[in-house]
Amino acid sequence: MRTAVLELLKRNSGQYISGEEISQLLKVSRTAVWKHIRSLKQAGYEIEAHPRLGYALRQNTDRLLPEEIKTHLTSKVLGREIHYFSEVDSTNNAAKKLAAGGCPEGTIVVAEAQNTGRGRLSRGWFSPYGKGIWLSVVFRPPFSPMDAAKCTLMAAVAVNRAVNAVAGAGCGIKWPNDILCNGRKVVGILTEMSAEMDAINYIVIGMGINVNIDPHEFPGEIAATATSLAAVAGCQIPRLKLFTEILAELESAYNTVKNFGFAPVLAEWKNQSITLGQQVDVHGIDRSFTGLATDIDDDGALLVTTASGVARVLAGDVSIRPAAGKLR
Ligand code: BTN
Repeated sequence: MRTAVLELLKRNSGQYISGEEISQLLKVSRTAVWKHIRSLKQAGYEIEAHPRLGYALRQNTDRLLPEEIKTHLTSKVLGREIHYFSEVDSTNNAAKKLAAGGCPEGTIVVAEAQNTGRGRLSRGWFSPYGKGIWLSVVFRPPFSPMDAAKCTLMAAVAVNRAVNAVAGAGCGIKWPNDILCNGRKVVGILTEMSAEMDAINYIVIGMGINVNIDPHEFPGEIAATATSLAAVAGCQIPRLKLFTEILAELESAYNTVKNFGFAPVLAEWKNQSITLGQQVDVHGIDRSFTGLATDIDDDGALLVTTASGVARVLAGDVSIRPAAGKLR
């Protein structure tokens, strides 16, 4: 009913519509109309109330509310079930609970803020209110668990397409799934899986996109390595447009993988890569070394040529060594 009230206000494009008219059109009481208007205001919509004329929508909210997402959504499966939080510990935690409880593929969890956002390698993820996209998507892919790592590369390709299209930011992918602009991180992706030996129960792909964060806000050591799309583009980026573009690109990449396998996505990953052809420092689970990143193989492992041969890197941290300047 709240969505229906919002639709009427939007259709009236800034003109007043009386509470009486809304209550008649939607066949609800005036009190119910008033309650929905109050809840829309609390959600961030700017609605003017006039004692005689009624209500007029002055400004849409910038929040990533389900009503707004649904209006702009072009994906068919991703986003068909939306769980929205003003604040949550971690959208990945919430999505994993929903997935374990049997939610359908394509369920998404979105939050304005995370108070315990999680990154790769047990790190945290800075997730301030309303300044980024903190999103997790539940997949139930028909692949073998061995292919899960490639789903992360698929997500990186899709998100990179979307950020470049919406923010024109000139970003590239650092192996395996960081998206960097001007050598600084704007996107991180955390993939988590529940599987049996031969089948995946679910994969949750969590994406953190630094959209409109002022670089001065980044805390501690992140400040030296992170940036935001707004800082790179020099203007505020519409979160909703980027959000729905990410879902559309992710669905398109997922359909490609289901229909044609991972080869097209891996080829695109290579084209968008800023890692290949660079000297890299690899910090693996049991060893650290330096070499030239030459390729990724069919499993998505990074191939690094060192003095003692070609190393296959499947996990760990990789930083690029530019000819001069900071590591990235
Ligand atoms: C990384 O370390 O680069 C991965 C960061 C992933 C952050 C996102 S934000 C949405 C989702 N929820 C989390 O707790 N983490 C991921």
